[in-house]
Amino acid sequence: MSSIILIGFMGAGKTTIGRLLSETMNKQQVDLDDIIVERIGCSIPDYFETKGEAGFREIEEEVLKEAIACDHIVSTGGGIVLMENNRKLLSRSEGLVIYLQTEPDVFLKRIAEDDASTRPMASSKTDEEIIAVYNPRIALYEECATHIVSTDATPEQIVNEIVNIATT
Ligand code: S3P
Repeated sequence: MSSIILIGFMGAGKTTIGRLLSETMNKQQVDLDDIIVERIGCSIPDYFETKGEAGFREIEEEVLKEAIACDHIVSTGGGIVLMENNRKLLSRSEGLVIYLQTEPDVFLKRIAEDDASTRPMASSKTDEEIIAVYNPRIALYEECATHIVSTDATPEQIVNEIVNIATT
């Protein structure tokens, strides 16, 4: 079986669902943001500060290219679909690309509950500004996804749905 790549906006639960899926399917999980932090040797907000978003996107593309080739569960960052090269990589991948679709009220609440400073694309932004980041991404998530899974369910139900997709 090939990789299962989880895409979706910040706060969609890509890391949490990836972890549960990994336990359920006994398949290794890789979290691209974690690999990026290891590689850059500093936090993502610090990297945005010094190299800008463009610098971050370059590393993100590099890391996706490596991860996508492996038979893993891959949790991506919310902006993975912004770069055309990444969209090509996702579309050409033999793996499943699962778009975890989350309503704005849910992701806004989660983003607000987390330490906002960990997410440079959301920090110091109003809810309206975060939604303005999200809106143009919707079509990109849909374009890259092989399957769309609503996260309006329990984590267990979401994982079951993905397992069903992967095994049928
Ligand atoms: C980003 C989302 C973050 C992280 C980076 C940029 C984005 O990941 O990759 O801060 O552009 O949406 P999460 O979706 O895990 O928060």
